[in-house]
Amino acid sequence: MDTLFSPFQLKRFTLKNRLGLAPMTRMSAGEDSIPRQDVLDFLVRRAENGVGIIYTEAIVTDYESAQGYPGQARMLTQRQLDAWKPVVEAIHRQGAIAVMQMFHCGRMAWPEVNPAHRVIAPSSITPQQDNPLTGAPYPVPDVMSRFDISHVINGFVETARGAVAAGFDGIEIHGAHGYLISQFLSAYTNKRIDEYGGSVTNRFRFFHEVIAAVKAVVPDDRLLLARISDWGVADMEVSLFETREAYQQVVGLLAAEPIDALSISTYQFQQPAFDSGKNMAQLAREVTDLPLLLCGGIYDRASAEAALQDADIVLSGKSLLLNPNWVEDVRHGKTLERFQSEDANIAYTAEPLP
Ligand SMILES: Cc1cc2nc3c(=O)[nH]c(=O)nc-3n(C[C@H](O)[C@H](O)[C@H](O)COP(=O)(O)O)c2cc1C
Repeated sequence: MDTLFSPFQLKRFTLKNRLGLAPMTRMSAGEDSIPRQDVLDFLVRRAENGVGIIYTEAIVTDYESAQGYPGQARMLTQRQLDAWKPVVEAIHRQGAIAVMQMFHCGRMAWPEVNPAHRVIAPSSITPQQDNPLTGAPYPVPDVMSRFDISHVINGFVETARGAVAAGFDGIEIHGAHGYLISQFLSAYTNKRIDEYGGSVTNRFRFFHEVIAAVKAVVPDDRLLLARISDWGVADMEVSLFETREAYQQVVGLLAAEPIDALSISTYQFQQPAFDSGKNMAQLAREVTDLPLLLCGGIYDRASAEAALQDADIVLSGKSLLLNPNWVEDVRHGKTLERFQSEDANIAYTAEPLP
C-alpha cells in the first residue's frame, strides 16, 4: 500500500497524504509584522504542489519580549489577521489544512526588535555561544516573575485567538529548539527553585499552563498541536532532555494534555537518541498513541517512507523550501539531492523563492 499518499484522519480533518511543510521562519515582515506577499504566496504554492498540511513560520506571541529575529510575524492585530485570511483560504482551496505555529523565544530574544526591549527566561543564563546574527553575546535575561509568566501566557492565548479568527485549522505551540518553553523544560536552562523548576513535572508546568490557557480559546473543531526537540538553535550540541527517561516523561505528560498530535523535530530522524538505539519518534511511540509528526533529513521517497514507519505524518523543511515540485518528485520516486543548512539561507533574502 502507498501509505505516503494515503489519507490520514486527524480529528475531523482528512489529510490527503502524509506530507507536510515544516514551519520555517523567513524574517520578511516589516514594521507591521506581516510577512512579505511572496512569502505568503510561497505557502500557497506548496499547497498547490500537493502538500497535505501547511505550517506557517513561527509567529511571535507578543510585543514585549517574544521576538528572536528581525522581520518576524505576529497575529495580534486585525490588519495582521486580514493578511493571513486569504492565505488560509487559498490553502483550503487546494485541499490542504493550515496550521499556525507560535512561539516566544525567551533568552534567545533580540531586544532591539522587541518594542519593550526585554529579554526574559526561566533563569538568568545566556547561551554559551554568541548570537550568530549580531556577532555579540546574547543579553543576560531577566528571571521571569509570576507576572511575566501570566503575561507571556496571555500572548500565546491572544495569538491563538488571532489564528482562530483568521481561519486556521490548527494551532501549534512551539516547545522545541531551545526557545522559551524548551528553556523551561530543560534543566540546562531552568535552574528555578519555585514550582516551575526542579523536577520534570515542575519544569513541564509552564508548558502545561500555556496549553491549558490556549485550549480554552481554541474551538473543538480546530487542532491543537505541540512541537518538541532534543536540540536547540544555540549550544546545539547540548541534549536538552539529558536522559531517555526525562524525554519520555515529558512525552507522557504531553499525552495527558488536550493536544491532538505531537510534532517531533530532529536533525536526522533515524538518529538513535540517548544511546537507546531508538530514534526520537520510536521513543515517543513507546509512551503515547498520539498522532506523531516527524521532521529532520527527510528529502526523498525512501527517507519519507522510512520516517513513516515511526510516525503518521512527515514534515519537510529544506526540501520543500527549495524545491517547488517536491511532492510530485517524491510521488515519482525521483532521485533527489539532500540540501544542507547553508542552502536554506536563501529563505532570509529578499529574493522570492520558486
Ligand atoms: C529557513 C528555516 C527556518 C526555520 N524556522 C523554523 C520555525 O519557525 N519553527 C520551527 O519549529 N522550526 C523551524 N525550522 C526547522 C524546520 O521546521 C525543520 O525542523 C528543520 O529544517 C529540519 O527539517 P529538514 O531536514 O527537512 O530541513 C526552520 C528551518 C529552516 C531551514
